Amino acid sequence: MSIREQGYFNEENSADVVISRIAKSTEPRLAEIVGVVTRHLHAAIKEIEPTQDEWMSAIQFLTATGHMSDDWRQEFILLSDVLGVSMLVDAINNRKPSGASESTVLGPFHVPNVPELPMGANICLDGKGEPMLIKGRIMSTDGTPISGAKIDVWQTNDDGFYDVQQKGIQPDFNLRGVFRTSEDGTYRFWGAKPRFYPIPDDGPVGKMLESLGRHPYRPAHLHYIIEAEGFQKLVTHIFDPDDEYIHSDAVFGVKKSLLAKFELIDNPEIIAIEGANSSFYKVVHDFVLAAAS
Ligand code: BEZ
Ligand code: FE
Repeated sequence: MSIREQGYFNEENSADVVISRIAKSTEPRLAEIVGVVTRHLHAAIKEIEPTQDEWMSAIQFLTATGHMSDDWRQEFILLSDVLGVSMLVDAINNRKPSGASESTVLGPFHVPNVPELPMGANICLDGKGEPMLIKGRIMSTDGTPISGAKIDVWQTNDDGFYDVQQKGIQPDFNLRGVFRTSEDGTYRFWGAKPRFYPIPDDGPVGKMLESLGRHPYRPAHLHYIIEAEGFQKLVTHIFDPDDEYIHSDAVFGVKKSLLAKFELIDNPEIIAIEGANSSFYKVVHDFVLAAAS
């Protein structure tokens, strides 16, 4: 019987010994995952050679991450976000055909069952910030407009908070809305020009970022989930390319194709045509959905 079969453990064979214990698992995918994680974790520990105190600090960090989490706050997802793991999982699961719009991270502030609004509605209920008109088209990869596509959008207010972070301060459903595209695949609504904001940084993940010399900011963006029958669901954002954090998003969500153009409209004629009563920012952004597989 080999040492591995006997299960005697030493520094060299550590991962093999642990993995040999899961050989009889009746859940092959779970066993595969645990095997890979074990192998990489043991390799990392061998490279790091932590002291006992350092290992205890790691345990305490994970414990604090768990304590910070509840039904509403998910500190482990934040950890996955700031380590780039959420975006990597997103990339692996959203390999789109050429021409289709790219996805990005969902984030923790999506709210299901938001009321559907008429095209052209204003989702900015607190009246803060600079008005912004957002419009565009939803199409298939061959350019055919998709009518009746569901567009679910959400953004922070001018103070950099989502409504759900400021219950009782912001109106319910402030800066959220669901719209359906018209026959010609177009959509149109009013919001407020987004600003950069910090991801929740009052927990262990925020402390970790600070210790690592990293900031917690996300560049100004607007979230979208776009769904239409016969097409893959698209979870994405548009970003303000002029934002000071556009090249250092705390969660690595920025992609070149998601940079929109935020154009300041101060021409009185265009202001009148668009039904506004002051200058505003205009963003025109189309999305292309990949066919369902
Ligand atoms: C967001 O964009 O809403 C977000 C994404 C990841 C972590 C925190 C916030
Ligand atoms: Fe966001």
